[in-house]
Amino acid sequence: NQLADAHVGMDELLVSPLWLDRHASLPLPPELYGPVPARRNSSGVDLAVEAMRAPLLAAHAATTVAAVPEFDAQGAEAAVGAAAAAWRSWNRTPVARRAAVLRHAADALQAELPRFCALLVKEAFKTWGDAVAEVREAVDFLRYYADEAERLMQPVALPGPTGESNELRLTGRGPWVCISPWNFPLAIFLGQVAAALATGNTVLAKPAEQTPAVALEAVRLLHAAGVPAEALQLLHGPGETVGAALVAAPGVAGVVFTGSTQVAKIIHRALAAKDGPIVPLIAETGGINAMLVDSSALPEQVVDAVVQSAFRSAGQRCSALRLLLLHEGIADPVIEMIRGAARELTAGDPALLATDVGPVIDREAFDNIRRHLRRLDSEATRLVAPADAPPGIDNLISPHAYEVPAIDRVSDEIFGPVLQVVRWSGEPQAVIEAVNRLGFGLTLGIQTRIDSRALALAARAHVGNVYVNRNIIGAVVGVQPFGGEGLSGTGPKAGGPHYLLRFCAEQTLTINT
Ligand code: SER
Repeated sequence: NQLADAHVGMDELLVSPLWLDRHASLPLPPELYGPVPARRNSSGVDLAVEAMRAPLLAAHAATTVAAVPEFDAQGAEAAVGAAAAAWRSWNRTPVARRAAVLRHAADALQAELPRFCALLVKEAFKTWGDAVAEVREAVDFLRYYADEAERLMQPVALPGPTGESNELRLTGRGPWVCISPWNFPLAIFLGQVAAALATGNTVLAKPAEQTPAVALEAVRLLHAAGVPAEALQLLHGPGETVGAALVAAPGVAGVVFTGSTQVAKIIHRALAAKDGPIVPLIAETGGINAMLVDSSALPEQVVDAVVQSAFRSAGQRCSALRLLLLHEGIADPVIEMIRGAARELTAGDPALLATDVGPVIDREAFDNIRRHLRRLDSEATRLVAPADAPPGIDNLISPHAYEVPAIDRVSDEIFGPVLQVVRWSGEPQAVIEAVNRLGFGLTLGIQTRIDSRALALAARAHVGNVYVNRNIIGAVVGVQPFGGEGLSGTGPKAGGPHYLLRFCAEQTLTINT
């Protein structure tokens, strides 16, 4: 019973006693100090639970955060079938009730902020500042989509001739597969799930393999708030097997994915190849995000925005700055100031409050970034030298910056604290066109004191989010709807007023009265 196994998996959470010793003052509740006994579930799978617990416990090493069973991809069809059955009643549940459940979860998450922060630091190597911001963003998503669903899902009366009434209604579409990334394992995970649930869909959530514990705790929270177990199933495992099987299963009504452009295209092709209905895909992918700086810009403001955007979160945000475009009249002093500011950053243990840049997520990411750095070392001019790494912290990459001769010579997206700088002269419009030609379209920064120029460049840029005279990260739910175009995603924008519409089916009801 794969479905039961998946639920059983949600009852296992182990936190390393060694880590807890080092951070004894953290406000973690006692049940996180060891294995949480699995609950007997209504299908009577308690024996299976016990059989699973032994290997899970054996796998619990000093650095283990969580042990979860991998979902058997062969169970994908049954899981989608259960989600389709659950959809009938969840979709009929009044939107006010669904919204109340999400608000209840938001209140619980807010009350548990310290515990979720601790888990984000431990499992995803977030700094404390980033962890707090992420929990807040997740709370915002829950509340915002609850409000938006209530606003959008009221029947709308439309005009018609005498003797006829017309009404437009929105409903859920069915089971959605939500595939979320490790870089925002709580906020993006809950954002996707909350959007689907608010609109009356049921969910098969496939979180990133690197961050199962955060997802597990988030799902527990939603179940405790009142989401029925089969309306929200958590299915752990690799994208290549579990994600692919879920996308391919009959009965899937939609897929929402955040991750790489390459994987988004694989999902797109897989959906197109399916028999049966045309299945919508919402994809939010990466970007080679640029910041254009003209000679009127304020250097101190530029440097602060660059350091925040390129190096905070170890550069592991899809919004992060990858390409700094400096007017030649201002380039030398700004580069000097960036050097100085980067030297002030502390790369190290994310659990320490003084740390600005924590490790990247895993060895694979580390090796991949190192490969890019080796190439940049031979092809570009290094501007910011790597700092000495403190001992004992794996996968740490301190901030790096390189000068590259031209925009079309920049590397593909490097998902780490690595900035590439290009000098420009002439017309800024031409520079924006060169950025457009890269094909991505997520975030863009413009630093200028000429207001008309900022507006003209923003209008010319093919990007989803333009930030003028500030950093380019940390979009706020309901304030800066977030998402891109081109190679950066399909839209609609998360945390924006049009997002939920894509999760809905629309029905026009015309009655001859
Ligand atoms: N939404 C995040 C930001 O704006 C990135 O995923 O930084």
